[in-house]
Amino acid sequence: MTTIQYDFRSDTVTKPSAGMRAAMADAEVGDDVFGDDPTVTRLEGRAAELLGKEAAVFVPSGTQSNLVALMAHCGRGDEYIAGQDAHCYSHEAGGAAVLGSIQPQPIAHQADGTLALTDIEAAIKPDDLHYARTRLLALENTLGGRVIPLEYTKAATALARRHGLATHLDGARVFNAKVALGVPVSEIAEPFDTISVCLSKGLGAPVGSVLVGSTELVAKARRLRKMVGGGMRQAGILAAAGLYALENNVARLAEDHAHARALGEGLSRFQALHVAPVETNMVWVDVDPEVAEEFNAYLAANGVGITHGYAGRRQRWVTHLDLDAGAIESALKVAARFFG
Ligand SMILES: Cc1ncc(COP(=O)(O)O)c(C=O)c1O
Repeated sequence: MTTIQYDFRSDTVTKPSAGMRAAMADAEVGDDVFGDDPTVTRLEGRAAELLGKEAAVFVPSGTQSNLVALMAHCGRGDEYIAGQDAHCYSHEAGGAAVLGSIQPQPIAHQADGTLALTDIEAAIKPDDLHYARTRLLALENTLGGRVIPLEYTKAATALARRHGLATHLDGARVFNAKVALGVPVSEIAEPFDTISVCLSKGLGAPVGSVLVGSTELVAKARRLRKMVGGGMRQAGILAAAGLYALENNVARLAEDHAHARALGEGLSRFQALHVAPVETNMVWVDVDPEVAEEFNAYLAANGVGITHGYAGRRQRWVTHLDLDAGAIESALKVAARFFG
């Protein structure tokens, strides 16, 4: 097995930096299930402040964050609307349905990743005993590396509110959107009742997400976190990494975006590769069918880790804080050797 030298598989593969490890080692801790961990409390306070909401709860993963959010908004037999490609619908093992008895109502995305407002409106069920009760609209930003425009999220959440629906944002990579848009992250969060933010993706922490929202919703989510086994004890060690990430690793996401653009430009020089416009840290590449399998194998054999197989022959390359400009150049050289 060839080891991966340049790992573009995901922004989750980063290792904690020396500074982050030092912050973790020095963290003041306590039993967070008793509410005694000062570092967790500080992280929750900081996340709420940055996102412009009343409260936050630290959870082990983005999946659990979305799950407890959906369960805080919806009860048994209720329904949430989400995109077909939304992580909370398509990549979380059906958790909301299995554990929350919440029915998903998926909607096809438009080319830009949004859900047509007319489709959302048509999917909201009337008050009729035949139907599940539609309670929530769940959006995602960034979605597959694309930035969802602010005007759109404002219009979609306003529509949801008009129909009495709550709103949730899966903002696993909301800081990538913030950096791409050049606005405070609170502006992206503003129209949503709850926002889930991952600390363990582009921000470089080893573990953890925060769910932010009103005091009432976060209290519900905290209880649900305990129910699904996410109550953690001396979690300040992990929260310290999250605090360090929020302090040190947000502005630098611009570097990941620049690297992704350079990578996209480099790859688009090869005739067999068709690169989608790069908006943040993800590069999507359609590979001509005659060479797709061989190219994937060549990259793997030459130490370049990517994921592929999306919608047939699509490759995904993700940049992150453990890949510098040299890594981008080296990966492009491997591609150049393949294409001769
Ligand atoms: C958009 C999005 N939401 C949620 C998650 C879930 O995060 P986790 O892997 O921490 O459960 C991911 C993970 O890749 C994601 O990409």
